[in-house]
Parts: sequence; structure tokens; C-alpha cells
Amino acid sequence: MNDLADTIRVPADAEQALRMRADWDRFFSQPVMHENLSLTSFEIGQFRRHVLSGHGRRAVDIGCGWGFLTAAMAQMGLWTTGYDWSPVAVAGASNLFDHKRLEFKVHDFVTETPPRELVPGSLDVVACRLTLPYLDRHIAMGDFRRWLKPHTGTLYLVVQVWERQQPGMIRGYPNAVVEDLRQGWAHTARWDLDPAGEYTALALTGPGSQ
Ligand SMILES: C[S@@+](CC[C@H](N)C(=O)[O-])C[C@H]1O[C@@H](n2cnc3c(N)ncnc32)[C@H](O)[C@@H]1O
Repeated sequence: MNDLADTIRVPADAEQALRMRADWDRFFSQPVMHENLSLTSFEIGQFRRHVLSGHGRRAVDIGCGWGFLTAAMAQMGLWTTGYDWSPVAVAGASNLFDHKRLEFKVHDFVTETPPRELVPGSLDVVACRLTLPYLDRHIAMGDFRRWLKPHTGTLYLVVQVWERQQPGMIRGYPNAVVEDLRQGWAHTARWDLDPAGEYTALALTGPGSQ
């Protein structure tokens, strides 16, 4: 049986953050690439449908890892910056992908203040795919809302659903928490990315409606 306490992945202090980041550096140094959830044409299609509003231009991907989604967003026409706290991930993503609308930067969203370029109301899209459980959820959601354009900005989230995860695979949120993330937005959509419904996606538009 999964224990809900084990879903906490947020470092408690700077020392623990250093250890956790070193773990991610090791993960991204492996000779064979491991991905929890590969980017599929279905996910890209749904992203186009629910997240690309037509006037979207400026986007960020928080906790971008290898940068597959970040690069796909640039290819879809968004000027996109992928951030990750692992310099190894950022170096790997920069080696894998090259596009005029794409850049990758190192940033720790737990122990550092947000990058200065992320000014309030400036972004069309914020993506956070499989990374929210590693951040302080309340602080991160507040930041995402603030950075987005109040009426048209869209947050794309992919999270794992705790009740639907295999025992021992516990990085997700209870379904009630996932549903709660939809509160206070002008428009929301949710769809599953796998047949078991373990991986679920959210498009949350219009943070200024609160
Ligand atoms: C499960 S991976 C998801 C990677 C990618 N978004 C994907 O969908 O494949 C979580 C990512 O979050 C990054 N991460 C964890 N804590 C972070 C933090 N405090 N600041 C920035 N990135 C962080 C990790 O380095 C890792 O790349």
C-alpha cells in the first residue's frame, strides 16, 4: 500500500536540496536515457488543442529534464525557455535540441528566488511536466499564476495520480488534490495520457479570474 507521506519530494533545506540535485545529476549522466513518460503524438496533439491558444508566443518549461516537451513547444511556435536545477540535464537538453526559439537555463525553483526575467503577466504558457511534486506546490502554483497573462495565459501540468500508481511508485498527488488544482481558473480541461489514467494532464487557462 502506498503511503501518502512518501509523495513529498520537496527538499526541506538547502543541504537536502544539494543532495537531491546531485541525484538528478547522476540520473541525467546515465549512458541510457530513462523517461517516466515519453512524449507521444497524442500528448502533442492535446497540447496543441488545449494549450496553444493562437496568440501564444512566450513560454517556459519548469523542470524540463531532457527538454523533449520544451523543444516541441519551440517547434510549435513558442519562444520557450526550459529551466532545470540539474546542470547535467540542461547540458544534455542543449546538446539534444537546437532551435532559434529555444533556450535552456539552470535554475533551482525551491531554494532560489524565481528568475528575474519571469515578470508578472508576461507568459502565454507555463509548462510543468512531472515536476510539480518536487516543488512547493502552493508557492509554485502562485508563481505560475502570477507569471501568466491574466486572461489568456495557460498552465500545462502533467502529474501522476496517487491512487492509480503501482505500489512503490509514488510521486503523484491524490485525485482530490489534482482536482483542487483546477480551482480559480477561467477555463480548465483534464485528460489522461495513458490507459490506466496514472498520468493525467491539465490545461488551466485564465489565472486572473480569481
Ligand atoms: C520527473 S523529471 C521530469 C522531467 C521532464 N519535465 C519530463 O517530463 O520528462 C523532474 C525534473 O524536475 C527537475 N527538478 C527537481 N527539482 C527541481 C527544482 N527545485 N528546480 C528545478 N528543477 C527541478 C529534475 O532535475 C528533473 O529534471
